[in-house]
Amino acid sequence: MSKTDKTTPVNQAPTADGGESGKSSNSGSAVSYDAHAVAAGAEAAGADAAGADAAQNPSDLHSSGSTPPAAERGVSRRGLIGGALAGVGLVGVAAGSGVTAAVLNNRSASPAPGSGSGFGSGQPFGKETISCHGKHQAGVATAVTAHSRYLAFNLSDSTNADAIRRMLTVLTADIESLTSGQGPIADSEPELAENPARLTVTVGFGPELVNRVNPAARPDWLGPLPRFNRDQLGAGYDDGDLLIAIASDDPLTVAHAARMLSKSLRSFASLVWRQDGFRRAHGSEPDGATMRNLMGQVDGTVNPRPNDDDYSDLVWLQKSAGWLAGGSAMVFRRIRMELDTWDQVDKPGRENSIGRDIAVGAPLTGTKEFDEPDFTAKNELGLPIIHAASHIARARSSDPNERIYRRVYNYDDSTDQGLLFICYQRNPLEQFVPIQRRLDQLDLLNTWITHTGSAVFAIPPGWEPGGMLGETLFAS
Ligand code: HEM
Repeated sequence: MSKTDKTTPVNQAPTADGGESGKSSNSGSAVSYDAHAVAAGAEAAGADAAGADAAQNPSDLHSSGSTPPAAERGVSRRGLIGGALAGVGLVGVAAGSGVTAAVLNNRSASPAPGSGSGFGSGQPFGKETISCHGKHQAGVATAVTAHSRYLAFNLSDSTNADAIRRMLTVLTADIESLTSGQGPIADSEPELAENPARLTVTVGFGPELVNRVNPAARPDWLGPLPRFNRDQLGAGYDDGDLLIAIASDDPLTVAHAARMLSKSLRSFASLVWRQDGFRRAHGSEPDGATMRNLMGQVDGTVNPRPNDDDYSDLVWLQKSAGWLAGGSAMVFRRIRMELDTWDQVDKPGRENSIGRDIAVGAPLTGTKEFDEPDFTAKNELGLPIIHAASHIARARSSDPNERIYRRVYNYDDSTDQGLLFICYQRNPLEQFVPIQRRLDQLDLLNTWITHTGSAVFAIPPGWEPGGMLGETLFAS
């Protein structure tokens, strides 16, 4: 069911509504994250961060709220069973004695219909927060959550520099409220804000917004990317003056935040496109596991980690970037997948096209996900085991500076399915573009993928309590 017709762009369907010094300033949260601490375990912390400080690893925090794992606490198996039974006692009122039996048999049990309560193994994670304050905006290096929504707006003609400042003041207050679990001032359903579930809102500026404040402050990379031969853009997912990237482990939270922020922006800008993304549900696999895309591949293995020494130089703009110091450059590409024809490819064909196996994501020359690929290894016929035109062979660069931080999501719309390829870097012209040029020229994956949307945004640095998102632009 690979459909090549395009989703209706939002501007044709106006009803579609749409840290290093990070401190937790959030109140009323059972568990709150410092953006910096979360960064240390973001994305596939798995193998790389196995030895990392447990206090900085969000997967540890998630598995048991703020309590260390049972083994570390010296809790006995008997203690765990006792605790589980104590919990069952509560649920058992609604679900009946079958629940207890199921737990003892180590089987999962369903809540009684209408009991209003799930029976998961973990604690509810709705109260978990990621601070929006800090040197960097949250949502770039902080833990990746299960759901995301991207809203791109164009500024109204009357939104001049003064209005942009007012707009950013409102956005700042909204983001501070929403990410700490409180409804913004104009929220008529503040109950929907009560479970942020690690909500982050990352704001990006398009070229027009920067031009309206100070054209001299616009970096040369902030504009449409050079055109690539295989691009099929113009489907309604390109560019924009302002990007609001919302992410949380709870889709209701995402929808509510999107509605609140859209409401605040109404008098300043209008929505031009919207795109939702998802990964596996929070808790369905250990936090930090590398995600799988809709082609079934493990996607995100070779990726700079926020706690790597060179992450900062690759991703965060430095002092020389002036108002953007502490910020980053985001590239957004909507990439359609032809899943119907991909279905027809046998396993060796699928694995050759990427250069890795499907089961665990190991390179074809290795056995484990994080094994280093050997691009020189040959098979018994003397042919390279990892095809020279495979995706990993073409995407890899010999220049260590020509790397990007990928933070991708799946999408599954009524018209098509694919990947929201989002990456962060200092300069897209020196990092994303050369990689994409190689892939555009030759990549075995190209038979099944097409880029249908493209945008670049400047991600301003973060802000501290009392400050304003994007304030450095006004001082530029
Ligand atoms: C739908 C499109 C795409 C799919 C399905 C896809 C999938 C994958 C997969 C499965 C891997 C191997 C595991 C890993 O290291 O993450 C990979 C690696 C990689 N991809 Fe993609 N990718 C896509 C598009 C892109 C694009 C547009 C770029 C950048 C322009 C890119 C850059 C990379 C890089 C840099 C690597 C790591 C290569 C290395 O081993 O050094 N990918 N991708």
